[in-house]
Amino acid sequence: MRIVVTGGAGFIGTNFLFLMHEKYPGYHIRVLDALTYSGNKDNLLSLLESPGIEFIRGDIREPDTCMEAVEGMDGVVNFAAESHVDRSIHDASDFLSTNIAGTYNMLKAAKERNVERFLHISTDEVYGSVESGSSKEDDPLLPASPYSASKASADLLVHSFGMTFGYRAMITRSSNNFGPYQYPEKLIPFFISNIMEGKKVPLYGDGLNVRDWIFVKDNCEALDAVFHKGTPGRIYNVGGGCEKTNMEITRCLLEYFGKDDSFIEFVKDRPGHDRRYSLDCTRITEELGWRPEHKFEDALTATIEWYIDNRPWWEAIKKKREEYISFMEKHYDSLSLKK
Ligand code: NAD
Ligand code: DAU
Repeated sequence: MRIVVTGGAGFIGTNFLFLMHEKYPGYHIRVLDALTYSGNKDNLLSLLESPGIEFIRGDIREPDTCMEAVEGMDGVVNFAAESHVDRSIHDASDFLSTNIAGTYNMLKAAKERNVERFLHISTDEVYGSVESGSSKEDDPLLPASPYSASKASADLLVHSFGMTFGYRAMITRSSNNFGPYQYPEKLIPFFISNIMEGKKVPLYGDGLNVRDWIFVKDNCEALDAVFHKGTPGRIYNVGGGCEKTNMEITRCLLEYFGKDDSFIEFVKDRPGHDRRYSLDCTRITEELGWRPEHKFEDALTATIEWYIDNRPWWEAIKKKREEYISFMEKHYDSLSLKK
Protein backbone atom coordinates (compact mmCIF):
# COMPACT_ATOMS: atom_id res chain seq x y z
CA MET A 1 0.00 0.00 0.00
CA ARG A 2 1.15 3.57 -0.71
CA ILE A 3 0.16 6.26 1.79
CA VAL A 4 0.73 10.01 2.11
CA VAL A 5 1.03 11.20 5.70
CA THR A 6 0.79 14.98 6.04
CA GLY A 7 2.22 16.54 9.20
CA GLY A 8 4.30 13.40 9.81
CA ALA A 9 7.13 15.35 11.46
CA GLY A 10 4.89 16.58 14.28
CA PHE A 11 4.05 14.88 17.56
CA ILE A 12 1.30 12.40 16.65
CA GLY A 13 2.52 12.04 13.06
CA THR A 14 5.96 10.92 14.26
CA ASN A 15 4.48 8.32 16.61
CA PHE A 16 2.11 7.14 13.88
CA LEU A 17 4.93 6.70 11.36
CA PHE A 18 6.95 4.58 13.81
CA LEU A 19 3.91 2.38 14.37
CA MET A 20 3.10 2.03 10.66
CA HIS A 21 6.68 1.19 9.77
CA GLU A 22 6.81 -1.47 12.48
CA LYS A 23 3.46 -3.04 11.56
CA TYR A 24 3.59 -2.68 7.79
CA PRO A 25 7.25 -2.67 6.75
CA GLY A 26 6.27 -3.25 3.11
CA TYR A 27 4.24 -0.03 2.81
CA HIS A 28 5.50 2.93 0.84
CA ILE A 29 4.97 6.03 2.99
CA ARG A 30 5.34 9.55 1.64
CA VAL A 31 5.59 12.15 4.40
CA LEU A 32 4.46 15.64 3.39
CA ASP A 33 5.39 18.24 5.99
CA ALA A 34 6.07 21.98 5.79
CA LEU A 35 8.33 21.78 8.88
CA THR A 36 6.68 24.67 10.66
CA TYR A 37 7.82 25.50 14.22
CA SER A 38 6.37 22.21 15.55
CA GLY A 39 7.67 19.90 12.82
CA ASN A 40 11.05 18.21 13.30
CA LYS A 41 12.49 16.07 10.54
CA ASP A 42 15.16 14.74 12.92
CA ASN A 43 12.42 12.79 14.74
CA LEU A 44 12.24 10.62 11.65
CA LEU A 45 15.97 10.17 10.95
CA SER A 46 16.01 6.43 11.68
CA LEU A 47 12.86 5.88 9.60
CA LEU A 48 14.14 7.88 6.66
CA GLU A 49 17.00 5.39 6.24
CA SER A 50 14.39 2.89 5.12
CA PRO A 51 13.78 2.78 1.35
CA GLY A 52 10.01 2.65 1.93
CA ILE A 53 9.83 6.10 3.54
CA GLU A 54 10.02 9.26 1.48
CA PHE A 55 10.05 12.83 2.84
CA ILE A 56 8.77 15.85 0.96
CA ARG A 57 9.06 19.27 2.52
CA GLY A 58 5.89 20.91 1.28
CA ASP A 59 2.90 22.95 2.33
CA ILE A 60 -0.69 21.70 2.12
CA ARG A 61 -1.75 25.30 1.52
CA GLU A 62 -0.33 24.90 -2.01
CA PRO A 63 -2.77 23.00 -4.26
CA ASP A 64 -0.05 21.83 -6.69
CA THR A 65 2.01 20.38 -3.83
CA CYS A 66 -1.03 18.39 -2.67
CA MET A 67 -1.71 17.16 -6.18
CA GLU A 68 1.88 15.96 -6.61
CA ALA A 69 1.90 14.36 -3.17
CA VAL A 70 -1.15 12.15 -3.83
CA GLU A 71 0.03 10.99 -7.26
CA GLY A 72 0.07 7.18 -7.33
CA MET A 73 -1.06 6.88 -3.70
CA ASP A 74 -3.75 4.59 -2.24
CA GLY A 75 -4.34 6.51 0.96
CA VAL A 76 -4.00 9.82 2.79
CA VAL A 77 -3.71 10.44 6.52
CA ASN A 78 -4.06 14.17 7.11
CA PHE A 79 -2.42 15.26 10.37
CA ALA A 80 -0.98 18.56 9.13
CA ALA A 81 -2.38 21.43 11.16
CA GLU A 82 -1.70 24.31 13.45
CA SER A 83 -2.46 22.57 16.73
CA HIS A 84 -2.01 24.92 19.70
CA VAL A 85 -5.12 26.63 21.09
CA ASP A 86 -3.18 29.48 22.76
CA ARG A 87 -1.48 30.42 19.50
CA SER A 88 -4.86 30.56 17.77
CA ILE A 89 -6.01 33.09 20.37
CA HIS A 90 -3.07 35.38 19.59
CA ASP A 91 -3.36 35.02 15.80
CA ALA A 92 -5.52 32.53 13.91
CA SER A 93 -4.51 33.28 10.34
CA ASP A 94 -2.29 30.20 9.87
CA PHE A 95 -4.99 28.08 11.50
CA LEU A 96 -7.50 29.15 8.89
CA SER A 97 -5.19 28.69 5.93
CA THR A 98 -3.65 25.36 6.97
CA ASN A 99 -6.46 23.69 8.86
CA ILE A 100 -9.26 24.71 6.50
CA ALA A 101 -7.82 25.58 3.08
CA GLY A 102 -5.04 22.99 3.44
CA THR A 103 -7.55 20.25 4.22
CA TYR A 104 -9.64 21.35 1.25
CA ASN A 105 -6.57 21.10 -1.01
CA MET A 106 -5.78 17.59 0.21
CA LEU A 107 -9.39 16.46 -0.19
CA LYS A 108 -9.65 17.91 -3.68
CA ALA A 109 -6.36 16.37 -4.81
CA ALA A 110 -7.24 12.96 -3.36
CA LYS A 111 -10.70 13.01 -4.95
CA GLU A 112 -9.35 14.02 -8.35
CA ARG A 113 -6.67 11.32 -8.25
CA ASN A 114 -9.14 8.70 -6.95
CA VAL A 115 -7.17 8.01 -3.79
CA GLU A 116 -9.02 5.12 -2.22
CA ARG A 117 -8.87 5.94 1.50
CA PHE A 118 -8.67 9.30 3.24
CA LEU A 119 -8.41 9.68 7.00
CA HIS A 120 -8.70 13.19 8.36
CA ILE A 121 -7.43 13.79 11.90
CA SER A 122 -9.73 15.95 13.99
CA THR A 123 -10.25 16.61 17.68
CA ASP A 124 -12.74 16.34 20.54
CA GLU A 125 -12.53 20.16 20.80
CA VAL A 126 -14.98 20.52 17.88
CA TYR A 127 -17.86 19.53 20.21
CA GLY A 128 -17.04 22.36 22.60
CA SER A 129 -17.31 22.15 26.35
CA VAL A 130 -19.43 19.28 27.73
CA GLU A 131 -20.95 19.97 31.12
CA SER A 132 -22.20 16.44 31.69
CA GLY A 133 -22.34 13.21 29.72
CA SER A 134 -20.11 12.49 26.73
CA SER A 135 -20.05 13.65 23.10
CA LYS A 136 -21.23 11.27 20.38
CA GLU A 137 -20.12 11.53 16.77
CA ASP A 138 -23.43 13.02 15.59
CA ASP A 139 -23.61 15.70 18.28
CA PRO A 140 -23.63 19.34 17.16
CA LEU A 141 -20.32 21.13 16.79
CA LEU A 142 -19.83 24.10 19.12
CA PRO A 143 -16.17 25.08 18.90
CA ALA A 144 -15.04 27.78 21.32
CA SER A 145 -11.54 28.70 20.12
CA PRO A 146 -10.29 29.80 16.71
CA TYR A 147 -8.30 26.52 16.66
CA SER A 148 -11.33 24.33 17.26
CA ALA A 149 -13.43 26.43 14.87
CA SER A 150 -10.85 25.80 12.15
CA LYS A 151 -10.89 22.06 12.90
CA ALA A 152 -14.71 21.98 12.89
CA SER A 153 -14.69 23.78 9.53
CA ALA A 154 -12.37 21.13 8.12
CA ASP A 155 -14.67 18.38 9.42
CA LEU A 156 -17.60 20.04 7.64
CA LEU A 157 -15.61 20.19 4.41
CA VAL A 158 -14.90 16.47 4.73
CA HIS A 159 -18.63 15.89 5.17
CA SER A 160 -19.44 18.08 2.18
CA PHE A 161 -17.09 16.08 -0.07
CA GLY A 162 -19.07 12.96 0.79
CA MET A 163 -22.42 14.63 0.13
CA THR A 164 -21.47 16.52 -3.02
CA PHE A 165 -18.92 14.29 -4.73
CA GLY A 166 -19.40 10.91 -3.08
CA TYR A 167 -15.81 11.17 -1.85
CA ARG A 168 -16.21 9.66 1.59
CA ALA A 169 -13.29 10.41 3.85
CA MET A 170 -13.18 9.22 7.45
CA ILE A 171 -12.58 11.39 10.50
CA THR A 172 -11.16 10.60 13.92
CA ARG A 173 -11.80 12.97 16.80
CA SER A 174 -9.39 12.20 19.57
CA SER A 175 -8.94 13.55 23.04
CA ASN A 176 -5.73 15.02 24.53
CA ASN A 177 -2.71 12.97 23.50
CA PHE A 178 0.46 12.76 25.56
CA GLY A 179 3.73 10.93 24.98
CA PRO A 180 7.16 11.23 23.34
CA TYR A 181 7.94 14.01 20.83
CA GLN A 182 5.20 16.43 21.96
CA TYR A 183 6.21 20.04 21.49
CA PRO A 184 6.98 21.59 24.91
CA GLU A 185 4.29 24.26 24.67
CA LYS A 186 1.54 21.73 25.51
CA LEU A 187 0.60 21.13 29.16
CA ILE A 188 2.40 17.85 29.93
CA PRO A 189 5.78 18.35 28.18
CA PHE A 190 5.84 22.04 29.12
CA PHE A 191 5.28 21.27 32.79
CA ILE A 192 7.70 18.30 32.88
CA SER A 193 10.45 20.40 31.33
CA ASN A 194 9.73 23.38 33.61
CA ILE A 195 9.94 21.19 36.71
CA MET A 196 13.21 19.71 35.43
CA GLU A 197 14.53 23.24 34.97
CA GLY A 198 13.46 24.18 38.50
CA LYS A 199 10.78 26.57 37.22
CA LYS A 200 7.18 26.98 38.34
CA VAL A 201 4.27 25.67 36.27
CA PRO A 202 1.58 28.17 35.20
CA LEU A 203 -1.88 26.72 35.78
CA TYR A 204 -4.70 28.57 34.02
CA GLY A 205 -7.71 29.75 36.01
CA ASP A 206 -8.68 27.49 38.92
CA GLY A 207 -6.89 24.46 37.42
CA LEU A 208 -10.13 22.47 37.43
CA ASN A 209 -10.72 22.18 33.67
CA VAL A 210 -11.08 18.55 32.67
CA ARG A 211 -9.40 16.82 29.74
CA ASP A 212 -9.60 13.16 28.70
CA TRP A 213 -6.01 11.96 28.34
CA ILE A 214 -4.93 9.29 25.86
CA PHE A 215 -1.43 7.88 25.40
CA VAL A 216 -0.34 8.72 21.87
CA LYS A 217 0.41 5.06 21.07
CA ASP A 218 -3.19 4.13 21.84
CA ASN A 219 -4.42 6.88 19.54
CA CYS A 220 -2.07 5.67 16.77
CA GLU A 221 -3.46 2.13 17.11
CA ALA A 222 -6.95 3.62 16.74
CA LEU A 223 -5.88 5.53 13.62
CA ASP A 224 -4.46 2.34 12.16
CA ALA A 225 -7.75 0.53 12.84
CA VAL A 226 -9.86 3.31 11.32
CA PHE A 227 -7.58 3.77 8.32
CA HIS A 228 -7.64 0.06 7.42
CA LYS A 229 -11.06 -1.07 8.64
CA GLY A 230 -13.19 2.04 9.11
CA THR A 231 -16.34 2.67 7.07
CA PRO A 232 -15.83 5.42 4.46
CA GLY A 233 -17.63 8.62 5.41
CA ARG A 234 -17.76 7.71 9.10
CA ILE A 235 -16.56 9.69 12.12
CA TYR A 236 -14.91 7.91 15.06
CA ASN A 237 -14.32 9.34 18.53
CA VAL A 238 -11.04 8.18 20.09
CA GLY A 239 -10.79 8.81 23.82
CA GLY A 240 -8.53 7.56 26.57
CA GLY A 241 -11.39 7.10 29.06
CA CYS A 242 -9.26 8.99 31.55
CA GLU A 243 -10.73 12.33 32.58
CA LYS A 244 -8.58 14.41 34.88
CA THR A 245 -8.45 18.02 36.00
CA ASN A 246 -5.35 19.98 35.08
CA MET A 247 -4.63 20.19 38.81
CA GLU A 248 -4.61 16.38 39.06
CA ILE A 249 -2.24 16.10 36.11
CA THR A 250 0.02 18.78 37.59
CA ARG A 251 0.14 17.03 40.95
CA CYS A 252 1.04 13.70 39.28
CA LEU A 253 3.98 15.43 37.59
CA LEU A 254 5.09 17.29 40.71
CA GLU A 255 4.86 14.12 42.77
CA TYR A 256 7.10 12.22 40.34
CA PHE A 257 9.81 14.83 40.85
CA GLY A 258 9.26 15.05 44.62
CA LYS A 259 7.87 18.61 44.46
CA ASP A 260 4.82 20.15 46.15
CA ASP A 261 2.12 22.70 45.25
CA SER A 262 4.50 25.60 45.86
CA PHE A 263 5.69 24.92 42.27
CA ILE A 264 2.25 25.91 40.94
CA GLU A 265 1.63 29.48 39.82
CA PHE A 266 -2.02 30.28 39.15
CA VAL A 267 -2.27 32.63 36.17
CA LYS A 268 -5.08 34.30 34.26
CA ASP A 269 -7.42 31.89 32.54
CA ARG A 270 -7.33 31.10 28.82
CA PRO A 271 -10.11 33.13 27.14
CA GLY A 272 -12.96 30.86 26.06
CA HIS A 273 -11.38 28.01 28.04
CA ASP A 274 -13.54 24.91 27.55
CA ARG A 275 -14.35 23.44 30.97
CA ARG A 276 -14.56 19.79 30.08
CA TYR A 277 -14.24 17.42 27.14
CA SER A 278 -15.58 13.89 27.24
CA LEU A 279 -16.00 11.38 24.42
CA ASP A 280 -18.38 8.47 23.99
CA CYS A 281 -16.24 5.88 22.19
CA THR A 282 -18.85 3.15 21.81
CA ARG A 283 -18.70 3.29 18.00
CA ILE A 284 -15.00 2.57 17.54
CA THR A 285 -15.05 -0.10 20.23
CA GLU A 286 -18.11 -1.91 18.89
CA GLU A 287 -17.34 -1.56 15.18
CA LEU A 288 -13.56 -1.88 15.12
CA GLY A 289 -12.75 -3.56 18.43
CA TRP A 290 -10.38 -0.76 19.48
CA ARG A 291 -9.89 0.29 23.08
CA PRO A 292 -6.97 2.00 24.82
CA GLU A 293 -4.45 -0.55 26.10
CA HIS A 294 -2.15 1.60 28.22
CA LYS A 295 -2.81 2.40 31.87
CA PHE A 296 -2.61 6.15 32.41
CA GLU A 297 -0.12 6.02 35.31
CA ASP A 298 2.29 3.72 33.41
CA ALA A 299 2.04 5.77 30.22
CA LEU A 300 2.63 9.02 32.13
CA THR A 301 5.70 7.55 33.83
CA ALA A 302 7.03 6.33 30.45
CA THR A 303 6.41 9.81 29.06
CA ILE A 304 8.23 11.56 31.91
CA GLU A 305 11.13 9.15 31.49
CA TRP A 306 11.26 9.92 27.76
CA TYR A 307 11.63 13.66 28.51
CA ILE A 308 14.31 12.87 31.10
CA ASP A 309 16.21 10.65 28.64
CA ASN A 310 15.77 13.09 25.75
CA ARG A 311 16.55 16.36 27.48
CA PRO A 312 18.57 17.65 24.46
CA TRP A 313 15.47 17.18 22.26
CA TRP A 314 13.34 19.66 24.23
CA GLU A 315 16.21 21.90 25.32
CA ALA A 316 17.01 22.53 21.66
CA ILE A 317 13.49 23.94 21.36
CA LYS A 318 13.10 25.72 24.70
CA LYS A 319 16.51 27.31 24.86
CA LYS A 320 17.54 27.75 21.25
CA ARG A 321 14.49 28.32 19.10
CA GLU A 322 13.86 32.04 18.80
CA GLU A 323 10.32 31.37 17.65
CA TYR A 324 9.56 29.31 20.76
CA ILE A 325 11.11 31.80 23.14
CA SER A 326 9.37 34.83 21.66
CA PHE A 327 5.94 33.16 21.56
CA MET A 328 6.17 31.80 25.10
CA GLU A 329 7.37 35.14 26.50
CA LYS A 330 4.59 37.05 24.78
CA HIS A 331 1.96 34.51 25.77
CA TYR A 332 2.86 34.00 29.43
CA ASP A 333 3.52 37.74 29.94
CA SER A 334 -0.06 38.30 28.84
CA LEU A 335 -1.28 35.86 31.54
CA SER A 336 1.07 36.93 34.27
CA LEU A 337 -1.50 38.74 36.44
CA LYS A 338 -2.12 36.39 39.33
CA LYS A 339 -5.77 35.62 40.02
P1 NAD B 1 1.95 19.21 15.91
O1 NAD B 1 1.79 20.69 15.98
O2 NAD B 1 2.91 18.54 16.80
O3 NAD B 1 2.32 18.79 14.40
C1 NAD B 1 1.77 19.41 13.27
C2 NAD B 1 2.60 19.03 12.07
O4 NAD B 1 1.98 19.58 10.90
C3 NAD B 1 4.04 19.59 12.12
O5 NAD B 1 4.95 18.61 11.69
C4 NAD B 1 3.99 20.74 11.12
O6 NAD B 1 5.25 21.01 10.52
C5 NAD B 1 2.96 20.24 10.11
N1 NAD B 1 2.31 21.32 9.38
C6 NAD B 1 1.73 22.44 9.89
N2 NAD B 1 1.25 23.21 8.92
C7 NAD B 1 1.51 22.57 7.75
C8 NAD B 1 1.24 22.87 6.39
N3 NAD B 1 0.62 24.00 6.03
N4 NAD B 1 1.62 21.98 5.45
C9 NAD B 1 2.26 20.82 5.80
N5 NAD B 1 2.57 20.52 7.07
C10 NAD B 1 2.18 21.37 8.04
O7 NAD B 1 0.49 18.63 16.10
P2 NAD B 1 0.00 17.25 16.72
O8 NAD B 1 -0.26 17.44 18.15
O9 NAD B 1 0.86 16.15 16.25
O10 NAD B 1 -1.43 17.14 16.02
C11 NAD B 1 -1.58 16.46 14.78
C12 NAD B 1 -3.04 16.49 14.37
O11 NAD B 1 -3.82 15.87 15.39
C13 NAD B 1 -3.61 17.90 14.21
O12 NAD B 1 -4.50 17.87 13.11
C14 NAD B 1 -4.37 18.16 15.50
O13 NAD B 1 -5.42 19.05 15.29
C15 NAD B 1 -4.86 16.76 15.81
N6 NAD B 1 -5.09 16.45 17.23
C16 NAD B 1 -4.10 16.62 18.16
C17 NAD B 1 -4.33 16.24 19.48
C18 NAD B 1 -3.27 16.38 20.54
O14 NAD B 1 -3.58 16.16 21.71
N7 NAD B 1 -2.04 16.70 20.21
C19 NAD B 1 -5.59 15.73 19.85
C20 NAD B 1 -6.59 15.62 18.88
C21 NAD B 1 -6.32 15.97 17.57
O1 DAU C 1 -8.50 17.89 23.14
C1 DAU C 1 -7.66 17.69 22.04
C2 DAU C 1 -6.74 18.88 21.90
O2 DAU C 1 -5.79 18.78 22.96
C3 DAU C 1 -6.04 18.97 20.56
O3 DAU C 1 -7.00 19.17 19.55
C4 DAU C 1 -5.02 20.11 20.54
O4 DAU C 1 -4.28 20.09 19.33
C5 DAU C 1 -4.07 19.92 21.70
O5 DAU C 1 -3.16 21.01 21.76
C6 DAU C 1 -4.83 19.81 23.01
O6 DAU C 1 -5.50 21.07 23.33
P1 DAU C 1 -5.59 21.63 24.82
O7 DAU C 1 -5.84 23.07 24.77
O8 DAU C 1 -6.50 20.79 25.65
O9 DAU C 1 -4.06 21.29 25.28
P2 DAU C 1 -3.01 22.13 26.14
O10 DAU C 1 -1.88 21.20 26.42
O11 DAU C 1 -2.69 23.44 25.52
O12 DAU C 1 -3.80 22.41 27.49
C7 DAU C 1 -4.33 21.35 28.27
C8 DAU C 1 -5.05 21.97 29.45
O13 DAU C 1 -4.08 22.57 30.30
C9 DAU C 1 -6.01 23.07 29.07
O14 DAU C 1 -7.14 23.03 29.91
C10 DAU C 1 -5.22 24.35 29.32
C11 DAU C 1 -4.32 23.98 30.48
N1 DAU C 1 -2.99 24.64 30.50
C12 DAU C 1 -2.22 24.57 29.38
C13 DAU C 1 -0.99 25.17 29.35
C14 DAU C 1 -0.12 25.10 28.10
C15 DAU C 1 -2.56 25.29 31.65
O15 DAU C 1 -3.26 25.34 32.68
N2 DAU C 1 -1.33 25.92 31.61
C16 DAU C 1 -0.54 25.88 30.50
O16 DAU C 1 0.57 26.50 30.54
